[in-house]
Amino acid sequence: MRRWALARRPDGLPQETDFELVEAPTPSPGEGEALIESLYLSVDPGTRPRLSADTYAAAFRIGDTIESAGVGRVVASRSPRLPEGALAMGGFGWTSHVVSDGRGVQVLDPALFTGKVSPTASIGILGIPGLTAWFGLTDLGRPNAGETLLVSSAAGAVGATALQIGRQLGLTVIGIAGGAAKCDYVTGELGADACIDYRAESDLAAAIRRVAPDGIDIFFDNVGGAQLDAAILNLKLNGRVVVSGQTSEYNSTGTPRGIRYVTPFITQRLTMAGLVVYDYRKRFTEAQAQMAAWINAGKLSYREEIIDGFERLPEAFIGLFKGETFGRRLVRVAP
Ligand SMILES: NC(=O)c1ccc[n+]([C@@H]2O[C@H](COP(=O)([O-])OP(=O)(O)OC[C@H]3O[C@@H](n4cnc5c(N)ncnc54)[C@H](OP(=O)(O)O)[C@@H]3O)[C@@H](O)[C@H]2O)c1
Repeated sequence: MRRWALARRPDGLPQETDFELVEAPTPSPGEGEALIESLYLSVDPGTRPRLSADTYAAAFRIGDTIESAGVGRVVASRSPRLPEGALAMGGFGWTSHVVSDGRGVQVLDPALFTGKVSPTASIGILGIPGLTAWFGLTDLGRPNAGETLLVSSAAGAVGATALQIGRQLGLTVIGIAGGAAKCDYVTGELGADACIDYRAESDLAAAIRRVAPDGIDIFFDNVGGAQLDAAILNLKLNGRVVVSGQTSEYNSTGTPRGIRYVTPFITQRLTMAGLVVYDYRKRFTEAQAQMAAWINAGKLSYREEIIDGFERLPEAFIGLFKGETFGRRLVRVAP
């Protein structure tokens, strides 16, 4: 059994040496337990703050296995809930094997994971990223058909899903993404009405005004910082900001950049609401069923970027903060 543990707290952008590969004998399941072999593990920007400090979840301690979502196969079982050979998903962490009593682990229902819905979708578009998009937009965003939605990191797992859900709800949808290739994907496959390549713009607020001259109603924010400011300056009366993530702040070592424009909150009666997707846990299955139906009907698409090799987990994670990623980044750790 191999696992990646936190070796030391990163200073700014994490380094591979902040993580340590630990080997141990593969454990055997006890009565009521099963041994799951990881097949795919996720890397998530939201892990970064927890390498340094508590967030809505506790900080990792030195030596802790890095937590993540995973899809695996039950390879030995003494539990009727986890039959041998079944595919399952759960918060396995960066580990090659996990012993589970079934808590927090879901055997993949073959009726849901069929057609265009692959097992890895359970930790992508039908997992935490997709559910973040769903509840952030449909609940906190309070969307009305005909309104305009702006989404940052629009080619990412959360952003791409939020954009497409917005389209299905009859919104005009605009993405912000880094680079021409990502913007082509956003306006092509994702069907956005426009995409702004923020790397090519010297004045992002003006660029948003150019594509949405009447302003925006909802800003779904994955990034924070300068992109948040530029969006605030374009929000209409009663505009809403959904705070999903603040990726541009996660590696900052000093004082966060923060919001620089607050007066529009008064003049435009804006509201801003933060999201913890786990608060919607009881409604996950309802959202998953709807999104799976949309995927199979061709109304919702998802893109996964698979990196091979358990040993590449830290590298794959660090790449999230370099703009390398396209869609949901997963690491295949076993054939
Ligand atoms: N609130 C919740 O419950 C919840 C749950 C899950 C995820 N989230 C949050 O949702 C957000 C999106 O997650 P995701 O999994 O879909 O990841 P993601 O958006 O694909 O994250 C990677 C992308 O973020 C962008 N990025 C990275 N560093 C940046 C920087 N300094 N400035 C601007 N953009 C930067 C890059 O895209 P570009 O090249 O386009 O810039 C990069 O490819 C994250 O902030 C995550 O923490 C929140």
